[in-house]
Amino acid sequence: MPSSVFITGANRGVGLEFVRQYAQIKPDTPKYVFAACRSPDTAEDLKKLQQEYNNVVIVKLDLTDESTYGEVITQVTDKVGDDGLNLLINNAGAAARSGINDVTSQQMLDLYKINAVAPLLLTQAALNMITKNMSLDLKKDGIMATAIHPGWIKTDMGGPSATTATEDCVKTLIALISSFKDESSNGQFYHYSGRVMSW
Ligand SMILES: NC(=O)c1ccc[n+]([C@@H]2O[C@H](COP(=O)([O-])OP(=O)(O)OC[C@H]3O[C@@H](n4cnc5c(N)ncnc54)[C@H](OP(=O)(O)O)[C@@H]3O)[C@@H](O)[C@H]2O)c1
Repeated sequence: MPSSVFITGANRGVGLEFVRQYAQIKPDTPKYVFAACRSPDTAEDLKKLQQEYNNVVIVKLDLTDESTYGEVITQVTDKVGDDGLNLLINNAGAAARSGINDVTSQQMLDLYKINAVAPLLLTQAALNMITKNMSLDLKKDGIMATAIHPGWIKTDMGGPSATTATEDCVKTLIALISSFKDESSNGQFYHYSGRVMSW
């Protein structure tokens, strides 16, 4: 298990469940589970988890506001020190709610920023290309980058008709992430079942 993990979009849905499961996973419970969200003051479910598990650290982060990234890096570095961060789960994402005739250019730009910086996308090819490039750029630092299709999950985004419970989805994803041990996983796009997807 990673000794530290950073999860974006951690106040609800899949991100919140990642925090819940990593905070108590055994053996080798992570020393730090950084839970990033836009509005920590109103993140009630996350605050409850922080009270329950003392390895949960809530961090304020809006992915569309790059001016705050430096503060986040400082907060994480202060905790992990020379050990560095082991695992980043770029989970935050947003889906377009407006039709093509109603969407504003600012909404389009924000979606691109959230979903290209985080693990979603305007097109799957864009995400896969970003992941592939990151995997090549970061290889020299010993960092792997992969993208995972999480399935259709019962969250605010997935809706009640989705096929998979959030708890089951995250259990599956944690097992899959734990299996990424060697270079063959680097830069790949995985289906949650563990199958490598072509693109
Ligand atoms: N659910 C599905 O069926 C499904 C299918 C395929 C892919 N996915 C992907 O899986 C990931 C998790 O989805 P989910 O179902 O848990 O979605 P969700 O319930 O809608 O939660 C989305 C999370 O992303 C955060 N977020 C959105 N914009 C952000 C920004 N600018 N900065 C920081 N955080 C931001 C939200 O924070 P706020 O509360 O502040 O808005 C929320 O915590 C997403 O990337 C999603 O696209 C989901």
